[in-house]
This record gives sequence, C-alpha cells and structure tokens, in this order.
Amino acid sequence: MKPIKKICCIGAGYVGGPTMAVIAKNCPNLEVEVVDINESRIKAWNDTNLDNLPVFEPGLSEILKDVRNKNLTFSTNVEYSIKKSDMIFISVNTPIKKKGMGAGQTSDLRWVESCARQISQSAKGHTIVVEKSTLPVKTAQTIKEILDSPSINNSNEDRTFSVLSNPEFLAEGTAISDLVNPDRVLIGGDDLEAMNALKEIYIKWVPESKIIFTNLWSSELSKLSANAFLAQRISSINSLSAICEVTGAEIGDVSDAVGMDSRIGSKFLKAGPGFGGSCFKKDILNLVYLSRFYGLNEVADFWQETVEINSWQKTRIYKEIVARLFGNLADKKIAILGFAFKENTNDTRESPAIDICKNLLDEGAFLNIHDCKVNEETIDKDLCRKKSSNRKMWACKKDVYSVFEDAHAVILMTEWSIYKTLDWEKILPVVKQPFWVFDTRLIVNPKVIKNLGINLWQLGNGMNQ
Ligand code: NAD
Ligand code: UDX
Repeated sequence: MKPIKKICCIGAGYVGGPTMAVIAKNCPNLEVEVVDINESRIKAWNDTNLDNLPVFEPGLSEILKDVRNKNLTFSTNVEYSIKKSDMIFISVNTPIKKKGMGAGQTSDLRWVESCARQISQSAKGHTIVVEKSTLPVKTAQTIKEILDSPSINNSNEDRTFSVLSNPEFLAEGTAISDLVNPDRVLIGGDDLEAMNALKEIYIKWVPESKIIFTNLWSSELSKLSANAFLAQRISSINSLSAICEVTGAEIGDVSDAVGMDSRIGSKFLKAGPGFGGSCFKKDILNLVYLSRFYGLNEVADFWQETVEINSWQKTRIYKEIVARLFGNLADKKIAILGFAFKENTNDTRESPAIDICKNLLDEGAFLNIHDCKVNEETIDKDLCRKKSSNRKMWACKKDVYSVFEDAHAVILMTEWSIYKTLDWEKILPVVKQPFWVFDTRLIVNPKVIKNLGINLWQLGNGMNQ
C-alpha cells in the first residue's frame, strides 16, 4: 500500500474540525483538508478572526494559528478533495431519525449514505474510508455495499476501498486535550494493511499501547457502549439526588464517598439537570433499537431507563421551581445562567436548559438569559416554537449582572466558572423579593446565599427549605 499523504475529512463540525487540527499539528508531512456542504461553516473556519470559529474549544485556536493554510485547509469542494485523497474520514452528523421507521430511536443515516455515494463516485485508486461518525452497529457493511456497488462505481477505472471504524471519544469543552492525550484509539476493520496505515498516523503522538485493533462490529458497538456507560452513571447519581432531597442527605457527599471506591471511580458522578449534548441520548437510543431489533427486549428496557431518568430529572427540576414560586410564573422574570449543555462549549444540542426554559415560558415567565459562549441566534432558534405564539418572552444579556434586574428567581443551568464567583451582595438590591436561587449544578456556596437571606434550592441538597 502506498504511504498516506493526503487526508480528507467530510464534515467540519465539532468532531471533524478539532480532530483534523490535531492530526495536522502532529503530522506535518500530511496534507489535511476538511470539507463541508455548509458554506457559512467553512467560511467561519477560514475566518482570520479566530473568535469567529464555528466551534468554541479551549486550545483550538492556538493549534489553528500553527497549521491553518499550511497543512490544514477548509473547503466546500467535496468532490475534488475526495478525488485527491488517500484516506477519507466520514465525520458527518448522525442525529436521531425524525420520521418513518425507527423514528425517535435510530440514527438518520442520510448524510453518511450521501458521503459513501460521493466517495464512490469521485475516489481514485485505493482509498481507505474511515467511519469517524458514531454509527449503528453494521453501518460499515452499508458503506461497503455502496462503495462497491457496480451501478455507482461504473467507470473503467480500477478503484478499491477499505472501510475502517475509528470512533471518536472526545468530549466537547475538553476536545483538544482528549485528542492530544486520548485514553485509547480504537481501530476496527478486517484489512490489516489499512488498519496499520491509520495507526501510523496516530502513533506520531499516541503511545502504541493505547492504539487497539478490533473487528468492525466491536469497534462500532464499543463507541455506543462507552457513551451508554457514562450516561448511565449520570442517571444513577441524578436518581440519588432526588433521594437526597427527601432524606436530608447531600448528593455531593454521597458522590464523593461512592467515587472514592477505586472500583467505582470519581468521574461522571456529578449530579446535575440531566445530561445534554448531541451524543448520549442518541447513542443510547441506538443501543435500545439494536437490542429490540434482535429481540433482546430486557436489554432494551434496561438502557431505555437511563434516558427516562434523564427526562424525569429535567421535569422534576421545573416542577420544584414552579412550586417554590407559589405555583405561578405569569408576569415573573426569571434569570437563566447558562444555556450550553456544559461549560466550555458553544453547543446547545439537547441542552437541559432548552427543555427547562420552554416549560417556564409555557408557565408565562419572562426569561433573561446569559451564556458565556452561546450566541443569541442559537438561543432564539432553540426556544422558538410555532409562529402563532411568537411574542418573544426572553431576552439575551451580554452582561451577567444585568439578568438579575427585577428578577424573581435565578436558575443556574451551566457550570461556567464566572457563575461560581458572583457577587451576591451586588445582586440583592436589584431583584424582587422573595428571591430564589435554583442551583442545578451545585456551584453556589449555600452559606453565602443563606447569610444574605436569599432562598436557595440546590439539587440533591437535603437541607433545602
Ligand atoms: P456536526 O453537526 O457538528 O457536524 C457535521 C457536519 O457534517 C455539518 O457541518 C454538516 O454540514 C456536514 N455534512 C453533512 N453531510 C455532509 C456531506 N454529505 N458532505 C459534506 N458535509 C456534510 O456534528 P459533530 O458533532 O461533529 O458529530 C459528527 C459525528 O461524530 C456524529 O456521528 C456524532 O455522533 C459523532 N461524535 C460527536 C461528538 C461530539 O462531541 N460532538 C463526539 C464523538 C463523536
Ligand atoms: C460525550 C462523551 O463524554 C464523549 O466521550 C463522547 O465522545 C461524546 O459524548 P460530551 O457530550 O461532549 O461527550 O460531554 P460530556 O462531558 O460527556 O457531558 C455530557 C453531559 O453530561 C453534559 O450535559 C454534562 O453536563 C453532563 N454530565 C457530565 C453530568 O451531568 N455529570 C457528570 O458527572 C458528567
């Protein structure tokens, strides 16, 4: 096999952009191109002002300063990029299907299929196609069938393909450090030469012991399983947060005590308003769908419960808020601190803030919203519903203290660090009384709040009033 010189990544999103930036940085001998059909996204990746990148990730702009327009380019010319590349990563979106068979359960693979068709039409010589997107088990089979289909691959040229699975385990907000220092790199396939060619790239910065080979199906399933395990820990601790509230226990103490057991470990035991992000719910639902497909209903029910608890957590927080505000939110202003699904990202996909805000809007509240990185356009898109009910009942504020003016309550939704050091003495004179703080992330100091005579409801805190 000839050495890999040119790489194309289809999909310039939260995975494609950062992943290729780190590959380009560590492999200066490779030419890396990220392509996308979304012109405005590519324009933003090429913006000379690095504050305008479409993805906010700590450490990303520093890497781009080094590699962009050297051995890393961003383009909309998908066909040309495929044609000249030896290895193509498919890193497109795979959201839950909205309509038809498997709607609300399995992934919508239209973007993956369209990539396979484009590759089949445009590739030259031998091409290694790498699944970077998270996919239902057996998708590699579909990709292979499309690539090898004589009806598409109908030219006389001798084109061949190897398909590999190389799922991405990065988390948003820590993507660069996760990519630079991954726990493992998983390569699934049945063509050892192609697997070694991909390994040659990672070995430039990842220790060999962390690069593991499996068959295609184990690789695809491992990705869904890892996300299911992580999400299950969050649902477990969130279910216990409710027990804490009624028994007088404190969830922070419980997770510390449980996490100190070396067999359990302390990560992913932070109670919160429910997991968000584009991956957890989608990937568990895929696992559920796969289990039902094979008649494993008990297995499906087991994993489904992780998603049910997550929805329940959001609803129960909303109910706690309404109950404490005398069951009435009409004509009340509520401050919302944080809209991203976690800190250090501008991503709002499946953010618990969306569901909770929509419920509060339904109650007639007016919301003053602040986030450190999410822009107003995204918030408007996430909260907008039918045109008929379109009086905008929220305002996006740039200054964090301005959300408090005339507010009856504040809800801390995202754990941005500036929310941990708010000056509550400065806030007190501008709010309505009685004023409530609802802390869904356990980031305020209860003593400080209570000493100022402010009402506090904190998730999983058995000392709530
Ligand atoms: P994203 O929506 O941010 O980006 C996907 C991009 O693909 C979009 O810009 C879209 O325009 C582009 N695209 C779609 N079809 C295309 C086509 N035919 N040609 C060219 N471009 C096309 O998605 P993402 O968050 O980067 O996720 C990508 C995949 O990686 C998903 O399968 C996801 O489950 C998985 N994943 C995501 C994360 C994460 O943290 N976001 C982590 C690990 C894995
Ligand atoms: C996740 C996986 O962690 C990552 O490996 C995979 O590649 C993509 O999906 P991501 O969704 O970006 O990453 O972020 P993550 O840190 O996992 O957080 C997901 C959600 O869980 C967030 O809403 C976060 O606030 C919440 N969470 C996380 C908790 O509520 N408690 C925790 O202890 C950890």
